Amino acid sequence: MPSADHPDLPGAPHFHYRDGELWVEDLPVAELARRYGTPLFVYSLAALRAAAAQWQQALAGREALVCYALKANSTLAIVQALAQAGCGADIVSGGELARALRSGVPPQRIVFSGVGKTRAEMRAALQAGIACFNVESMAELDVLDAVARELGVKAAVSLRVNPDVDARTHPYISTGLRDNKFGIPHDEAQAAYRYAASRPGLRVVGIDCHIGSQITSVEPYLDALDRVLDLVEALQRDGIALHHLDLGGGLGIEYHGETPPSPAALVQALLQRLDARGHGHRRLLFEPGRSLVGNAGICVTEVLYTKPGTSKHFLIVDAAMNDLPRPAMYEAYHAIVPVRPRQDVAAHAWDVVGPVCESGDWLGRNRRLAAEAGDLLAIGSAGAYCMSMASHYNTRGKAAEVLVSGAREQLIRARETVADLWRLEHALALT
Ligand code: LLP
Repeated sequence: MPSADHPDLPGAPHFHYRDGELWVEDLPVAELARRYGTPLFVYSLAALRAAAAQWQQALAGREALVCYALKANSTLAIVQALAQAGCGADIVSGGELARALRSGVPPQRIVFSGVGKTRAEMRAALQAGIACFNVESMAELDVLDAVARELGVKAAVSLRVNPDVDARTHPYISTGLRDNKFGIPHDEAQAAYRYAASRPGLRVVGIDCHIGSQITSVEPYLDALDRVLDLVEALQRDGIALHHLDLGGGLGIEYHGETPPSPAALVQALLQRLDARGHGHRRLLFEPGRSLVGNAGICVTEVLYTKPGTSKHFLIVDAAMNDLPRPAMYEAYHAIVPVRPRQDVAAHAWDVVGPVCESGDWLGRNRRLAAEAGDLLAIGSAGAYCMSMASHYNTRGKAAEVLVSGAREQLIRARETVADLWRLEHALALT
């Protein structure tokens, strides 16, 4: 059982202490680290399935589709697991299109978001027969219309409307404010729809909004929904019928004491508002990323050195900002817990840092831990926006990834070697 010094990982019931050590489902985490080395991402298949089921059950009985936002974690086996659980995909690049298709997501369950789609990406998505493009600007409408006509097809479009509501989250991950680069301003949307409806290469099918990420209350969603429904009604008066509403992703998770609504609570609040305003019959799409995968993964790292100082004490571990960029980028908090809690070592307040040559390379500050060189630590909530944002900075290969189901595990991505890193480089040939 965890003690006050060794709390469980927040929001992650599939990772738990048993017999004095951390387990994932029915496997000891230390065993996986021994087998595959560190840093190591470890995911729970049951956690992925449970998260998908929460969304699916909340929407049961409605015409709805949960499109997993691949950007949160696009490793093929993860996308496959969610596709098998009935999810579609929200993609933002040709690369993510390829990953979604390769993972078995049916094209008619794929929506394509993003402010900078290239013609080649549009062509690939049209040829694959995706469900819908979430279009973010007038200029994009023109290009998509032209590309579709070249191919002799009609592109299904939904306009991403920027509702100008405050998601009350970190400024870098807030996307629904007027000053963000995302979406078409609310007051220009009606004209944009009229224009889209007039283009021969386009077929207007829906409306879309996404106001930010790591949102921890329902109010911003309800505000955005009201703004979107105002538009839907205005468009209806214009004779433009919208088949679906895509309410985006953004639902937060618990990293450290946050209490976001469950998918069920969020969906229920939204359905109530939809029904109250007479829109309960419309097809609903969501684009969750973090809430599907965030707490289904941890990153296991080994303490390389302890470096006590005068004012700061550092635990230097083998994972770094290239593996887990969120603390450096957003000052994000990830729980850090010992894999095998020690009773024989005194606890200190440590800054947990990586080997990368940047002062910004920290994973946790002022964390009370009892640890020595050679000990393993688990970094929590590492399923979303960690591996997918990892880099090769300092010529560090990306970590390996393992997926666990019960007492079985599968390596789903091998650790990168230095040969992988320079595979595309050429030795100097110029004299
Ligand atoms: N749909 C659209 C159009 C998006 O831009 C995003 C996320 C999502 C869906 C999925 O949002 P989620 O459910 O995961 O919150 N790297 C940042 C998060 C950036 C999110 C970008 N867009 C982080 O690590 O916190």
